[in-house]
Amino acid sequence: MIVLGIETSCDETAAALVRDGTEILANVVASQEDLHRAFGGIVPEIASRKHIETINPVLDEALRRSSCSLEDVDGVAVTNAPGLIGSLLVGVSTAKAIAFARKLPIVAVNHLEGHIYSNLLAHPDVRFPLLGLVVSGGHSDLVLMREHLCYELLGQTRDDAAGEAFDKAARALGLGYPGGPAIDTAAREGDPHAVRFPRADLGDSLDFSFSGLKTAVYRRAQGFDGGGRDRSEDLAAGFQEAVVDALLTNTLHAAEQQGVKVLAVAGGVAANSRLRERFAEAAEQRSLRLLIPPLSLCTDNAAMIGCAGYYRLHRGENHGMEFDTYSVKPLG
Ligand code: KG4
Ligand code: ZN
Repeated sequence: MIVLGIETSCDETAAALVRDGTEILANVVASQEDLHRAFGGIVPEIASRKHIETINPVLDEALRRSSCSLEDVDGVAVTNAPGLIGSLLVGVSTAKAIAFARKLPIVAVNHLEGHIYSNLLAHPDVRFPLLGLVVSGGHSDLVLMREHLCYELLGQTRDDAAGEAFDKAARALGLGYPGGPAIDTAAREGDPHAVRFPRADLGDSLDFSFSGLKTAVYRRAQGFDGGGRDRSEDLAAGFQEAVVDALLTNTLHAAEQQGVKVLAVAGGVAANSRLRERFAEAAEQRSLRLLIPPLSLCTDNAAMIGCAGYYRLHRGENHGMEFDTYSVKPLG
């Protein structure tokens, strides 16, 4: 089964062709990063207008690279939530138009579900239960999956998402946009133990909180709380260590609580080199199976949507022309 995946939830216009949920025939991503850099963040109206300009060329390019035509496509999968509503609508309208014209089944995919399934592209053999950690610009969710497409939310952020914290801390440190990769690079030259930033104590909860940490970085960068002489590389490394500590602690706690042996980490922050190192070490020590996508599949793409969509289409789902688009919609 060849699935056409479409993703436009934020500032990437993406289309992919995926065979049987595993084989990526083409995966085209057009990033709007340069367009939003001057604003230090994503401007929703600019993002949706750019998607309108870009979606057809991106689709054409995906078909060209896969050597497929629309006649070869067996089903369409599109992100319908969560995200910027104007951006989502461009992808959903395009996907519906293709499905309607070609009389194809179409399924709506939750963006966070897509991130988790980015791991199944290479590992379709995965055994459930599985513990998913989705860490992106908008979410930090710990999700238990007992079977395909079933989600139980165990923990989430109470304020800033992990990626958002990276972006804001980078701004405080003058490291530029987007913040995640900038902190990752700076931290390689820093000492993670030079400055110890606070870790939120939320008792037994599996939730996260990063806003206090963000404020601590701001204050230290401005010379308060003993700061003033710090190297920005050390502050970046100290901040990154605190975020990774929080993500790892809760993930391991949840895995133990639920007796889960498979971890699937995903989302833009899963590209972080220190996170990848610490999760790999911890998984090996505890004999857990760690799934984490290659860097190109951590950030937003449509192959992950095509993969998740495959599992929905394969079990006979067809959401037709009537499904809606939501800026906020939790998994499950
Ligand atoms: O999944 P994603 O591409 O988009 C959303 O669904 O939000 O994630 C984007 C987020 C941004 O906040 C970005 O700064 C962060 O992922 N990110 C990183 C790294 N690469 C991207 N964070 C930390 N380290 C990285 N190497
Ligand atoms: Zn994402």
